[in-house]
Amino acid sequence: MKKITVAILFGGCSSEYEVSLKSMSSVLENIDQDKYHVILIGITREGRWLRYDGSIDRILDNSWHQSDDSVPAFLSPCRQMQGIVALNNGTITTTKIDVVFPVLHGKNGEDGTVQGLLELAGIPFVGCHTLSSAICMDKDFAHILANSSGIKTPRSVTAFKNTNLDTLISATKTLGFPLYVKPAKEGSSNGITKAQNTAELILGIEKAFSHDNKVVIEENIPGFEVGCAVLGNSDVIVGEVDEIELLHGFFNYEEKYSLTTALIHVPARIEKEVAEKIKETAIHLYQVFGCRGFARVDMFITPNGDVVFNEVNTIPGFTTKSRYPSMLSSAGLSYTEVIDKLISLAMEEGY
Ligand SMILES: Nc1ncnc2c1ncn2[C@@H]1O[C@H](COP(=O)(O)OP(=O)(O)O)[C@@H](O)[C@H]1O
Ligand SMILES: [Mg+2]
Repeated sequence: MKKITVAILFGGCSSEYEVSLKSMSSVLENIDQDKYHVILIGITREGRWLRYDGSIDRILDNSWHQSDDSVPAFLSPCRQMQGIVALNNGTITTTKIDVVFPVLHGKNGEDGTVQGLLELAGIPFVGCHTLSSAICMDKDFAHILANSSGIKTPRSVTAFKNTNLDTLISATKTLGFPLYVKPAKEGSSNGITKAQNTAELILGIEKAFSHDNKVVIEENIPGFEVGCAVLGNSDVIVGEVDEIELLHGFFNYEEKYSLTTALIHVPARIEKEVAEKIKETAIHLYQVFGCRGFARVDMFITPNGDVVFNEVNTIPGFTTKSRYPSMLSSAGLSYTEVIDKLISLAMEEGY
């Protein structure tokens, strides 16, 4: 059988560049190489595109882009080409691609930009389309949409760079403290502050605006955060619900990737009925947002059992130990099977 040519996109002009290197290394180590011919396209933090033919070690130590195994390359938007153009010692080569797996997190990768390019190029790709990627990336728009579909969201105030600070602070008065101050379009908790008072709120606003020109300030939702892995196009399957146990603070960047004090429980330590309600809500939101392929839907469970929407990650953390694969593994699907399923779903659906 002829191998399927998969281009894996990794890195990215994003604050989550390192997270992508880890996710993609897991994908590369576990993808069925008998079935798939893998081509690697790395994007540096500065946004340079390179085709990389070297070892995984140089991806993990982030020296891949300085290696002789890297050559300038890009994905052509031209449908006739449907592939990658590379410049090798003054010679231009083109390689046809059957399917693309963008293993990119956050800005310029998970937010609809790369998805738009792939739709233009007419190449099937893993994950959500342009519009749903863009909506899920924007915490303000995602909340408006979730709310209008009947799902609770934290009460919040949205601010833009030109919003007057005093007006903004008084608008948050009814939300109480602590407050979560977030750049509208970020990930991995980058730029987020849990503000306990007005002074911290002001610093938090400044920090969030250094990441984005739109900021969302949310009330604190008591209880704990849960996630649900959804996989599929029109028919979906879900994994076991997971639970984040926090000993203090919030699930910030350090805790997410070191789990020093935070713990992740899969399955979550909740009643079966509550888990069912979370799964139903996750599927409902997946459909409302028009997701396909995969997404991790994150929600809070309040002490009185209410499900409150937090966010949808359209390219969730994807190392073998990450939450999305762990939830599916608990439901009986191995990491390699998930990769295989995602690629099949992409090819079934087209671009
Ligand atoms: N409204 C909220 N109430 C309670 N905790 C929150 C709230 N919003 C965010 N958090 C905490 O902050 C973390 C990061 O926020 P989140 O919106 O998920 O951003 P990111 O997209 O960076 O993951 C969450 O995992 C949670 O621990
Ligand atoms: Mg989150």
